[in-house]
Amino acid sequence: MAEIIRAEHSGFCFGVRQAIEKTEEQIHLNEKLEKKRQIYTCGPLIHNRFVTDDLKARGVGIIESPEEAEPGDIVIVRSHGETKAFFDESKRRKLTVVNATCPFVEKIHQLVHGAWQEGKNIVIVGDKHHPEVIGINGWCAGQGIIVGSREEAEAVTCEKVFLVCQTTIQKKLLDDIVAVFEEKHILTEIYNTICNATKERQESCKNLAEKVDAMVIIGGKNSSNTGKLYEISKKKCKNSFFIENIRDLPLKQLRKCNRIGVAAGASTPECVIKEVIANMSEMITNEKISMEDFMDEID
Ligand code: F3S
Repeated sequence: MAEIIRAEHSGFCFGVRQAIEKTEEQIHLNEKLEKKRQIYTCGPLIHNRFVTDDLKARGVGIIESPEEAEPGDIVIVRSHGETKAFFDESKRRKLTVVNATCPFVEKIHQLVHGAWQEGKNIVIVGDKHHPEVIGINGWCAGQGIIVGSREEAEAVTCEKVFLVCQTTIQKKLLDDIVAVFEEKHILTEIYNTICNATKERQESCKNLAEKVDAMVIIGGKNSSNTGKLYEISKKKCKNSFFIENIRDLPLKQLRKCNRIGVAAGASTPECVIKEVIANMSEMITNEKISMEDFMDEID
């Protein structure tokens, strides 16, 4: 029977858990009201379909901006955070804002806002399309220089910068950017705002990937932190598989392996991880069982 080993750090991080708890609390409070209020999250609460489908079924809508909500509606800010303009507009429209921004992201907003008010040039190391980065940039009036690669760092022309990072980037990217700035003699005030939860998940995934025959990475396909775990795993273990849930398990390949590692992104619910771990062993041991048969059995 194959040995299944779970990465020491995997699954919901503190910020995501907090955002889900705050949302659950609003749903419960709303249930007690005679006149129900509309609850929205601004963007999907987390990058996991399992969670977002459940919230949708319970009446929680998704909006892209405060303009889509009516006065009195409840708008939950997810752990990625939002721009300053978002909070200002929500206040103007008399929305009830439930701020579930992760405290670590909120700290970046404060750093960036303070430095911006002092007239500093803000550099944000990260992915310019990621909502967290868009939110951070919104605390320096959208004027931050977003740097996602060595090439983009080469293009920076300021003499002095104030640098923060998207919480989920790999430390190597920060080191590369700082090295380029040093070569260019750019005076850099560095705030390493990479989150420990990310580091821990990435390191335990890497350590485990070195010791096993195959790695199963569980998480939403649109979750960037899970995608990064997959990239890290793939470098150490060529048999790495990115799955959303038990239905995606590559049984044929896993049946050839003796030791299988499991890691999960910070937005992957515990119940999904447990379902995969609890059933994988039986599925890969029983050569005759097909995924369809298995799903019939547990449905
Ligand atoms: Fe917060 Fe770190 Fe999670 S920044 S949302 S605890 S990955």
